[in-house]
Amino acid sequence: MNLKNLISTYENGIATVTINRPKVLNALNKDTLLEIKEVFTKLGTDDKVKVIILTGSGEKAFVAGADIAFMQSLSAIEGFEFAKLGQEAFMTIEGCPKPVIAAINGFALGGGNEIAMACDLRIAAETARFGQPEINLGIIPGFAGTQRLTRLVGKTKAKEIIYTGAMIEAQEAHRIGLVNKVVPLVDLMDEALKMAELIASKGAVSLKLAKSAIDTGVEIDFHSGSLHEAQLFGLCFSTEDQKEGMSAFLEKRKAKFKNK
Ligand code: CAA
Repeated sequence: MNLKNLISTYENGIATVTINRPKVLNALNKDTLLEIKEVFTKLGTDDKVKVIILTGSGEKAFVAGADIAFMQSLSAIEGFEFAKLGQEAFMTIEGCPKPVIAAINGFALGGGNEIAMACDLRIAAETARFGQPEINLGIIPGFAGTQRLTRLVGKTKAKEIIYTGAMIEAQEAHRIGLVNKVVPLVDLMDEALKMAELIASKGAVSLKLAKSAIDTGVEIDFHSGSLHEAQLFGLCFSTEDQKEGMSAFLEKRKAKFKNK
């Protein structure tokens, strides 16, 4: 893959994707979104990758949003297409069968908060700032922020964040359930790696099925979601990992999952 705006590295089952446009605080233009789509599609089907960490380059910003210079002269149709591209790129992250952890190292604004919300888990540096400031630019969130923020923090808080365009601090983001935990900036990548390693020690199939049960379930009614869960639960019993996991428990030893 010839990447210009991202850096993708791999070690011991964990891939790290870094959005790398520090001069514009890692703002997302069309090419970056296309690369995100391509990278997450590839990582999703790469058997050696168990967990993915997404972060931004530099200490100031995770992602400061969609690229305003790029968007300035878009027509209505181009604006629609740009939003659809961003939504597709983020759906690739959300739909990726591997758990994705956002390590939020600074500003996560507009498209930056939207891409973080497409990840499974979010760890924020104490210095991170969150918001949907699109209203200050005369637009609204376009990369599914109105949908994911509402699902994550509820309609009342989502409306406050989107209508005011104000930034919130990392601790407040934690309080309202937008992020999983807040750590000092110097510890951010270690904490993300620690969580990634813990998750990577589990079976890849049950991780994938758990992700599907949660993400599919939240979009459908309770009974259909529960049925989907029961079907996936049943499917687990066709795996070697289920046999190993239960045998290991009964034999009082640590399970060695084969990811199949
Ligand atoms: N797009 C393009 N360039 C951006 C950018 C963005 N979203 N955010 C920052 N930059 C650029 C700045 O223009 C500046 O470039 P120059 O050095 O060439 O002037 C450089 O990055 C550094 O930024 P600042 O000088 O502004 O840094 P600061 O520390 O003073 O402020 C900030 C930091 C508060 C994050 C500020 O940069 C900012 O408000 N950025 C825009 C945030 C924003 O509005 N995001 C939403 C975008 S719209 C969107 O995302 C729509 C969607 O849902 C699809």
